[in-house]
Amino acid sequence: MSSRLIYNIKQLVNTRRETYLLRGAALADLPCIDHAWLHIEDGRIAGYGPMSTLPRDLRLLLDEGEDSTGEFADPDARAIDAGGRFVLPAWCDSHTHLVYAGSREAEFVDKLRGLSYAEIAARGGGILNSARQLADATEDALFNAAWQRLQELARLGTGAVEIKSGYGLTVEGELKMLRVIKRLKEKSPLTIKATFLGAHTYPPAYKDDSDHQGYINLMIEDMLPVIAREGLADYIDVFCEEGFFNVAETEQILRAGIQHGLRPKIHANQLHLSGGVETGVRLGALSVDHLETMDASAIGALAGSDTIGTLLPTAAFFLRMPFQPARELLDAGCAIALASDYNPGSSPSGNMNLVVAISCIQMRLLPEEAINAATVNGAYAMSLGHELGSITPGKKANLIITRPLPSLAYLPYAFGSDLIDQVMIGGEFIRDKSLIRKPVNTGT
Ligand code: NIG
Ligand code: FE
Repeated sequence: MSSRLIYNIKQLVNTRRETYLLRGAALADLPCIDHAWLHIEDGRIAGYGPMSTLPRDLRLLLDEGEDSTGEFADPDARAIDAGGRFVLPAWCDSHTHLVYAGSREAEFVDKLRGLSYAEIAARGGGILNSARQLADATEDALFNAAWQRLQELARLGTGAVEIKSGYGLTVEGELKMLRVIKRLKEKSPLTIKATFLGAHTYPPAYKDDSDHQGYINLMIEDMLPVIAREGLADYIDVFCEEGFFNVAETEQILRAGIQHGLRPKIHANQLHLSGGVETGVRLGALSVDHLETMDASAIGALAGSDTIGTLLPTAAFFLRMPFQPARELLDAGCAIALASDYNPGSSPSGNMNLVVAISCIQMRLLPEEAINAATVNGAYAMSLGHELGSITPGKKANLIITRPLPSLAYLPYAFGSDLIDQVMIGGEFIRDKSLIRKPVNTGT
């Protein structure tokens, strides 16, 4: 049985004996233990507490650790001195599109020159640009590119991630993407969930209103049965938006997914009041995501439901959109999660540290609220609340160990710095050991 002890932790963050989805004011409560130890056995959290309560048998492990020399202890040691460092659950990123081919920085420059997201989409750019690039990519090439991105995310502290299809838009292309996600699930130590997003946009052959039903039929009759048979997806998602899928189309597609055992998620209210939030609530969606554009009716519907509102602040940032009304959502009692929306068009970054920082800086989330939204509630937005997202006995040991920091609020405050020393996934450190650094001057 492999056993590891992390000790002298300055603060152990998000310690919970039991977890549940956090709503409204509950997000401000982030239980922490100062000067703590954490015991990991066989890749899972076995116990924790203040240093004064370290059990005698674990104390023996300390002899195998190093003295506190100011260096981070050898990550291969069974006892690791985390002096001055914070330990928190790894980020749970519940909304990404990280399987894609190529990149779209030319469109980025077009946007700098004044074109809008909708104008770029209307010219055959946007999602259709990625769809053309994906059609030309082999499954292996897609897998390799996605694998690199996943490695980068893990080093940035992400321990669980949801990945969507939606750049295939043909039977062959959507299945290719979902098979890549399946391979990532099998090979990566990260916990991964797959979402079928065939309804990301209408492919050119079906773009006229009168042809929409043809593509919907293709998804329902030719894609969903194979996806269900091969177990290629956990969820089904639709981009419910003006110029994309309307409410009636969204509902038809999601109901077909539900019949195949896929719980809905929705891209809702990104650019307009699309009715996507109310539709998601009505269909029992696990989450409705984006929410840049909200009114009282959409907020009220979400607050009165079990559906999670997933906010994607780096997409709003990148597209220069108004930020999601996080404070209003919390005041109304909604359950909110934070995710990266990592994709080549609206958020070419999967850095959850930046997501947390921007949510504080621009949406006025408190650091405690942002951390809860990016850990516990992010886990619930992937049906992983029982398994990840908090320091709870029995949960998978997916952890972030920070550099020595003056306080937890320093994380979103020093938003441009790499403040992570090590990341543990399933009990194993995954950051290159050469990255283990001496304490930095944090200005205190
Ligand atoms: O979540 N909004 C729709 N889909 C993505 C963007 C996809 C793209 O531009 O490639 C999003 O922002
Ligand atoms: Fe998205």
